[in-house]
Amino acid sequence: MKRIIVANWKMNPQSALEAAAIIAGLMPVCKSLKNTQAVICPPFVYLNLKSKIKNLKFTTGAQDVFWEESGAYTGGVSVKMLKNLGVTHVIVGHSERRAHFQETDNMVNKKVLTALRAGLKVILCVGERERIDSEMPTIVKEELTLGLRGVAAQKAKNLIIAYEPIWAIGSDRADTPEDLFGMVIYIRRALLDIFGKNFAESIPVLYGGSADDKNAEGFLKVRGVHGLLVGRASLDIKKFGNILKIASSLK
Ligand code: PGA
Repeated sequence: MKRIIVANWKMNPQSALEAAAIIAGLMPVCKSLKNTQAVICPPFVYLNLKSKIKNLKFTTGAQDVFWEESGAYTGGVSVKMLKNLGVTHVIVGHSERRAHFQETDNMVNKKVLTALRAGLKVILCVGERERIDSEMPTIVKEELTLGLRGVAAQKAKNLIIAYEPIWAIGSDRADTPEDLFGMVIYIRRALLDIFGKNFAESIPVLYGGSADDKNAEGFLKVRGVHGLLVGRASLDIKKFGNILKIASSLK
C-alpha cells in the first residue's frame, strides 16, 4: 500500500501568493517521491492553484464539503465543485469542525456518503478528547460506526481513516508509536466489524496530531499505519519536505 502524507493547512496561509510559494517550495521533493502520495489540503480559495501549475506531483484535497449537491446553501461548497477543480480527496469530520462548526456524527455521515458517491476519496477523522490509561477510547469506535453508517463495503477502497487524538492536535504532545499501535489495532477491529475482512483491510489508517519531521519516522514504522495527517508542520516547506522524504525512504 502506498504511503499517504496529507497536508492540512487549516485556515492558512493568508494570501494566494504565500500558498503558491509553499507549493513551489515542495515541488522538487514531490517529484522524487517513491511509494508515497502527497495530498495537499489548502483552504477552498486556493484549491485552484493546482490548475495553474503544470505537472504537479501531488494531489489536492479539500478540508470539508457540504452534503447537498447544489442550490440555496450560502457558503456551501459541493462535491461537484471540488471534482471540477481536479480535487481528489476531502477531509471529513476533523475535530476542529466538530468543535467550532458544531458538526455532529450525523452531518459527518452525510458528507461521507455524498463525497463517496461522487468518487472522492474521503479522509475521515476520528479521535478521543482524552486518553485514559489502559482504556480504549470507545468514542473512536462510535465515530467510525456513525460516520460510516450506510457506506457500502465496495466503497471502502475510497476511504482513508485519520486517527487524530484531539489532545495531540496543535499541542506538541504527539502520541507515542507504542500507544498508536494499540489504537490502530482497535480501529482495524472496528473497521472489520463494519465492512468485513476483505474490504476493511484495504483501508489506510493515518496518524495525525503534532506529527513533524522529528517523530514522523517512528509513526510511519508502526505496523498498520499508512501515513500521516500533518497540520502545522505542513506549512513549513523544510519540515513537510523532510516528512515526505522520510516516508519515501522507508521500505
Ligand atoms: P497538528 O494538526 O499537526 O498541527 O497537530 C494536525 C491536524 O489537526 O490535522
